Amino acid sequence: MIFKKSFTQQNRLPIEALHAAHRVLSSASLHRYQEGDLAQNEVASLEKEFANWQDAKYCLAVTSCGQAMQLALRSVGVSTGDAVLTNGFTLAPVPGAICAVGAQPVLVEISSDLAIDVADLRKKAHQSGAHVLLLSHMRGHLPNMRDIIALADDLNLTVIEDCAHTMGATWDGQKSGNFGRVGCFSTQSYKHLNSGEGGFLTTNDPDVMARAIVTSGSYMHYSNHGAAPGETHFDSPKYECANMSARMDVLRASILRPQLAELDLSVARWNELCSALAAHLESVPGIMLPRQSNLAMRVGSSIQFQIPQFSASECVNLVARSATRGVRLKWFGDTVPVAFTSNHTHWHHVPPQALPQTDAILSTLFDMRIPLTFEISDCSEIAKIIGDVAQDIMAETV
Ligand SMILES: Cc1ncc(COP(=O)(O)O)c(C=O)c1O
Repeated sequence: MIFKKSFTQQNRLPIEALHAAHRVLSSASLHRYQEGDLAQNEVASLEKEFANWQDAKYCLAVTSCGQAMQLALRSVGVSTGDAVLTNGFTLAPVPGAICAVGAQPVLVEISSDLAIDVADLRKKAHQSGAHVLLLSHMRGHLPNMRDIIALADDLNLTVIEDCAHTMGATWDGQKSGNFGRVGCFSTQSYKHLNSGEGGFLTTNDPDVMARAIVTSGSYMHYSNHGAAPGETHFDSPKYECANMSARMDVLRASILRPQLAELDLSVARWNELCSALAAHLESVPGIMLPRQSNLAMRVGSSIQFQIPQFSASECVNLVARSATRGVRLKWFGDTVPVAFTSNHTHWHHVPPQALPQTDAILSTLFDMRIPLTFEISDCSEIAKIIGDVAQDIMAETV
C-alpha cells in the first residue's frame, strides 16, 4: 500500500479570501498606512478581529512570528548581552529571534511531554540571572501553565509565549498566548492561518504594545490600528523606539480575515484527524505518544511519537522506508539539519549547551504534519504504513 496524498498541500483558501485578494489587488493600495484610505484598512480590521478572537486587549499584525518575537523581546526591555531562557526543543526562528536582538539564548531541557522542564527552568533561571523566558509551545505541547506562571512570579521572569503552533490551543480553558506578558503567532503557510508569511503579537500591556507598534514601523500612523492603546502611551515610544519595518500588508490581511472566521472549525477538524491518528499509532507495539495533561487542548496540526528502542540507523530507516510508501516523517535526532527540521546541536551561532535529557528524547522522536486536506480514512492508512514499517525494522533487529 502506498499513500498518495501530499503532506504539504494546504487546505483551499475560502472563496471570500480570493475575492478579497482580488479587490485589494485591483485597488493597488497595498500598504497598511496608505494615506487617505484609512477607513478601508484591512490590517486594522484584522487586528481588531484577532484581538477579539484571542481575548487579548491589543494586537499587532506583522510580517512573521519571528518578527513578533523580536518585537516582543525588545518591547519588554531585552537588550544586547541579556540572557533569555527558551526551550531546548524548538525551531530555529526561536533562538534566532533571541540572537537577532543581540541577546544570549539559555536553553532549557524538555520533559517526556515535549514541553519545557519546570525544574530545569528554575535551575537555569538562577544560574543565568535571566529575566525573560521565551516559552516556545513547540508542536503545540503546553507545559503546566499554572506552574510556569507561578515560577515566573516567584523569580520575576517576564514570559513571552511563542504560539506559532498553538493558535487556538488552551490550558484549563484559557487560550495559549494569554498566560504570559506577550503572545506571538505565525500565519506562515504551514500554520493555523495561511498568508504565506505573517504573524501577530498580542498583549494586555498598553506600554508593551505601544513600543511594539512603533518598533514595527508605524511611523506616526500608530493611531491607524485596530486594537491599540490610547495616544498617551505613544508619547515616549514615538521618540525612543527605533523603526524596524515589520508591517503586515493589506493583501495578507485581506486573505487572513475570512480564514480567521473559520479558524475554530479548522481547530476542531485538526483535532479529529489527530485523535484518529493517535488512536491507531498507540496500538502499534513499540510506538509511544507523548503524554498530555487533560487540562491541555492541543491543536493537532501535527503529531509526534517516539520509538524508544530504535537506534539512529533504525530511525533513518523508518523515515526512508515510510517515504517510499508515501508517508513523510521527520526525525529530530538527525546529526544534520534537514529541510525545516533542526535541533539545538545544529545552531552553531548559539554557545553549545549540554541538554542530555532533551537529546535522549529527540534521538527517537518523529514528527508528521497533518494537513486539513486529509480525511479520517487517511489516518488509518498512514498509521498502518508507519506501524508495518516499524514492525519490519524491529523484526530485522531481533
Ligand atoms: C516553534 C516555532 N516558533 C516560531 C516560528 C517562526 O514563525 P515564522 O515562520 O512566522 O517566523 C516557527 C516557524 O516555523 C516555529 O516552528
